[in-house]
Amino acid sequence: MARILPATPEAIAEAVAALRAGQLVAFPTETVYGLGAAARDAAAVERIFELKRRPRDHPLIVHLPGPAALGEWAVASELAYALARHFWPGPLTLVLQRSELVPAVVTGGQATVALRVPRHPVAEALLTAFGDGVAAPSANRFGRISPTRAEHVASEFGEELLVLDGGPSEVGLESTILDLSGAQGAEGVRLLRPGGVPVAVIEEFIGQRVLLPDDLRARERTAVPRVSGSLASHYAARAPSELVTAEALAARALAGGQRVAVLALMAAPEGFAGEWLQLPSDPVRYGQRLYSALRQLDSGEPARILIEAVPDNDEWLAVRDRLTRATARSNA
Ligand code: TXA
Ligand code: MG
Repeated sequence: MARILPATPEAIAEAVAALRAGQLVAFPTETVYGLGAAARDAAAVERIFELKRRPRDHPLIVHLPGPAALGEWAVASELAYALARHFWPGPLTLVLQRSELVPAVVTGGQATVALRVPRHPVAEALLTAFGDGVAAPSANRFGRISPTRAEHVASEFGEELLVLDGGPSEVGLESTILDLSGAQGAEGVRLLRPGGVPVAVIEEFIGQRVLLPDDLRARERTAVPRVSGSLASHYAARAPSELVTAEALAARALAGGQRVAVLALMAAPEGFAGEWLQLPSDPVRYGQRLYSALRQLDSGEPARILIEAVPDNDEWLAVRDRLTRATARSNA
């Protein structure tokens, strides 16, 4: 059974001892909860893949106590240091050429490594006391909804696991991932995953455009993304989930009856009998609540979850990305 402990100094000390002993520890960050292992300990990192049932070619993010550790884990350019100093601690992950000390299991054998310094007092205290890198993916089974509370983590894993409870995650969506590994940023800064730091804020800071992946560009052109065969289902509820336009939502929901659950920006229509959750129409506050709302709807075991499409602009990029993946049919 997972053991949830309020993140007191004693609990953090216990977590540090567990990391030193090669065990896994779940801990809060400002984005989502992470499932951590000592990043230099290849055997401990292996256990993360086993517990999550995560494919070995999905590399992990190494969480650092501060930007000073950057040079130890990666070959960092001036641009990387500038981004780190400005955005860390915070929800930005940098992909850089890895240094010799990074075990291959962390990076899936790639020549690059993903690094970030989280902005959460418990994560910061844990990393500072541990004094070294902690490899941590989101603390959920592979493909499932990321956890934003300690109880979410406990409900994912039946196994023995220490979970530090630091309250609900403030950002609620994962970090923004930037790839600077192409000549360390000289070949352009590529967005790998939209997230906690908006792309516009990064562009303003670096004074150049961030390159968006083709699939994000394609998705930007359509209000309701088509279910893509190539897009792996991720961040997903157990119930089949579907994106629906605002115009079609009420009729679809009413036709579905009691067994339909709805996540929407608009209020429920008169006569709807299922569960309806209305989220804020501000992308930041929507993002904070998205994962726990999806978990709540899923726990009612509906036959189907209908999700109202969100606005088609850059402010909603991270939310739209997660909704697209949550509603992609798994074709694995
Ligand atoms: O907010 C976050 O980033 C959270 C918290 C716990 O820090 N972590 C998180 O980890 O979302 P995870 O494992 O769920 O997602 C990590 C992402 C994956 O999509 C992985 O492919 C990508 O980071 N990644 C890791 N290393 C990479 C690398 N060397 N090159 C490209 N992508 C990489
Ligand atoms: Mg994840």
